[in-house]
Amino acid sequence: MTKTNTLLTSCKLGDISVANRVVMAPMTRNRSEADGTPNNLMRDHYAQRASAGLIVAEGTWPVAVGQAYNRQPGIETAKHIQGWRAVTDAVHQEGGKIVLQIMHAGRIGSHHIKGSEVATVAPSAIKARGEVYTDSAGMQPFDMPTELSTEEVWQVIEEHRQAAVNALEAGFDGVELHCTSGYLPMQFLCSDSNQRNDEFGVSVQGRAKFAAECIRAMASVFGAGRVGLRMNPGNRFNDTKDEFPEESHLALLAAVADLDLAYLHMMLAPIATIDAFKMGREAFNGALIINDGFSPKSAAGAVSDGQAEAVSFARHYVANPDLVSRIASDLPLAKFDRDTLYTAGAAGYTDYSNA
Ligand SMILES: Cc1cc2nc3c(=O)[nH]c(=O)nc-3n(C[C@H](O)[C@H](O)[C@H](O)COP(=O)(O)O)c2cc1C
Repeated sequence: MTKTNTLLTSCKLGDISVANRVVMAPMTRNRSEADGTPNNLMRDHYAQRASAGLIVAEGTWPVAVGQAYNRQPGIETAKHIQGWRAVTDAVHQEGGKIVLQIMHAGRIGSHHIKGSEVATVAPSAIKARGEVYTDSAGMQPFDMPTELSTEEVWQVIEEHRQAAVNALEAGFDGVELHCTSGYLPMQFLCSDSNQRNDEFGVSVQGRAKFAAECIRAMASVFGAGRVGLRMNPGNRFNDTKDEFPEESHLALLAAVADLDLAYLHMMLAPIATIDAFKMGREAFNGALIINDGFSPKSAAGAVSDGQAEAVSFARHYVANPDLVSRIASDLPLAKFDRDTLYTAGAAGYTDYSNA
């Protein structure tokens, strides 16, 4: 008798029932229309991958100020909602589940992408070192951000609530807050980028408050059981610096501990001294999705060892739309083409075939 692969068993991530524990991790692929409207290409891409237990759709801006990249989708306008509706309908028709990752980029912004009339904002007026690719002018430094006033911070939290309202209207099964990679929630959380003296700074609890309030605002729309949180303590991407990352992330988990969130989506810490998966298990009492560098075999081992309820895969999902059936049949995985990760059009996006 063959043993059932634990990855292929159903489970619940909060209020979201999933057919298996293989999660498609969020991947920015820059295929939307210029105004952030999801198109048929995106519909087909996600529908092809609907056998995942859960798809976490790519980082999506709640408002134009929060856009980081060209051809990155938004969830702000009626057109965005309509475009995403086609995506969620297609995934649901295939029997899948899909949540939307809400991503406000904060100081990771360029007027070459957003237009000069759109602001770039941050917890403090500190420019991130680094550059971003822009369609109109090639590589460009990030803009100098303006500091949000306390009142404006509450407005941005309200924008997260509105993004959840729009995501619900677009048919998503839930929403996830992107709190990694140096975008706005992480800019608030980390000591170097947050030099504020108000309720959203000063102490580690103050720095954690913005992300916690965004989560609460999103939960007020979907119910906490359909809201996930993504984090990656120790992440240094986009000029992120935090003196005590473990402490900051624990403060955020403590600040949302009273909510029964759908899941914590925890990435492997890039710092050897932080055991992020253990931290997730100990400081979060809901379902844990773990990520980064897993193979089908190591993922199955992690789930059967009880390290997590589910494992998410990003890069394996680029070239293996049928990852779940490849895992079930123990088939080899296809390799993806790096050159077409972020380019417009179908090549390297909807033209990978099933095994
Ligand atoms: C092309 C690409 C785009 C990504 N975009 C996002 C994103 O929008 N949001 C996010 O949280 N992580 C993003 N990531 C990170 C992945 O979700 C994942 O954490 C990382 O690739 C490690 O998982 P893997 O080893 O299964 O690829 C991206 C990764 C890749 C390769």
